[in-house]
Amino acid sequence: MIDLHCHILPGVDDGSAQMEISLDMAALAAASEIGTIVATPHCNTRDQRKNYRSPELDAAFAALQQAIDRAGTPVKVLPGSEVLLRNDVGLLLDTQPLYTLAGSRYLLVEFYFDEDPRFMDEALATVRRHSLIPVVAHPERYFCVQDMPRMAERWYERGYLLQLNKGSILGDLGERAYDTGRDFLQRGLCHVIASDAHHAAWRTPSFLRLLDELDYFFPQVPAELLLERNPRRIIENCIL
Ligand SMILES: [Fe+2]
Repeated sequence: MIDLHCHILPGVDDGSAQMEISLDMAALAAASEIGTIVATPHCNTRDQRKNYRSPELDAAFAALQQAIDRAGTPVKVLPGSEVLLRNDVGLLLDTQPLYTLAGSRYLLVEFYFDEDPRFMDEALATVRRHSLIPVVAHPERYFCVQDMPRMAERWYERGYLLQLNKGSILGDLGERAYDTGRDFLQRGLCHVIASDAHHAAWRTPSFLRLLDELDYFFPQVPAELLLERNPRRIIENCIL
């Protein structure tokens, strides 16, 4: 399986703080049969490192892979980022080199949880105008989407991709994300489920609980499509 959204790159955001933790995260992923992780550090946040594309970050991705290989963990790490879309989005896309998902045309994007719904529509259209396809990280966590699920339907209809968080489906991220996420899953408003893991002890990259939950409560949901086939098409830059 493939984890398309994971804060495993150490020391660059609020995810893994050091290489030892990243190695534990990789081992947990491998134990749940994840063979590929796209490392997606937060990008363009106000208070953390910017994490635009750079030789330093290229070296950090390579160092992580080297350490994982040395530990003998069968996990491949690909570069990515989770880009915060805020009022500078046009300028950002015009001027900053960004890590798309594994170098594809797909860009993982997030918003502030209390973002204005009109701004979200405009910002996603701006991404699309820049010849990138937005993959909306955890739509079920945004307050306006929880209030107006129709927003996510519209994004789906426009050809944007929806990535649900495993933690929302498991109830680890609050009641409203749980209700909204499970509703989306039920209705097929989901292209990918990813871990959005930040640590090895909580919000982990393991898919084990998720697989049990899907098996028991969502037998009609094609888990293989959401955890393997669709993410593979994204990292291989195929059309979904
Ligand atoms: Fe994230």
